[in-house]
Amino acid sequence: MNKLKFIRELVKKEAKDHDWQYHILPVVVYAKKLAKIYKVDQELAELAALLHDIGRIRHGDLDHNLTGMIDAEKILKDNQYPDKMINQIKQSIKLHRASQHVRPKTILDKIIANADAMAHFDILPLFFYWRAKKHEFPKILEWMQEKINRDWNKKLSLPAAKKIIKPKYQAIKLILKACKQWE
Ligand SMILES: [Fe+2]
Ligand SMILES: [Fe+2]
Repeated sequence: MNKLKFIRELVKKEAKDHDWQYHILPVVVYAKKLAKIYKVDQELAELAALLHDIGRIRHGDLDHNLTGMIDAEKILKDNQYPDKMINQIKQSIKLHRASQHVRPKTILDKIIANADAMAHFDILPLFFYWRAKKHEFPKILEWMQEKINRDWNKKLSLPAAKKIIKPKYQAIKLILKACKQWE
């Protein structure tokens, strides 16, 4: 098995079903799409996308960009990836969260942050399902609104990513507005 395939299988095995299928996999697909547009190496983009949430998968949400850097480094080193690639991937993992004050710097950082946000727009009903277990309906609506606006305004920095997501952003906004009128 080649090393990229090995890492793909490793993440697939460790991520819970819904996380792989509805988050990691879409992030990989979007990252590769953006990498093609912005002329970034496909394997580099796929590895960064596969590993961007490894910290969350293994250790929980808190500071998962930082815990993820450490785990990603080990996984990539074990698979004999060159240091330059490892460092680029580590930085993109560190900077993938819009909630952090540091902004993505390189094109790879931006691709991962953008692909991460793009994936959210495809699984909104699933987010709804997860959140509904913990919150009242108006709170869920507020959270969804906050989430899509943060993704749209802060994470989607690449024009190509914004163009792909725009119809979904507008549709979601319209639906949220429709829901809110009954409050
Ligand atoms: Fe994350
Ligand atoms: Fe993510």
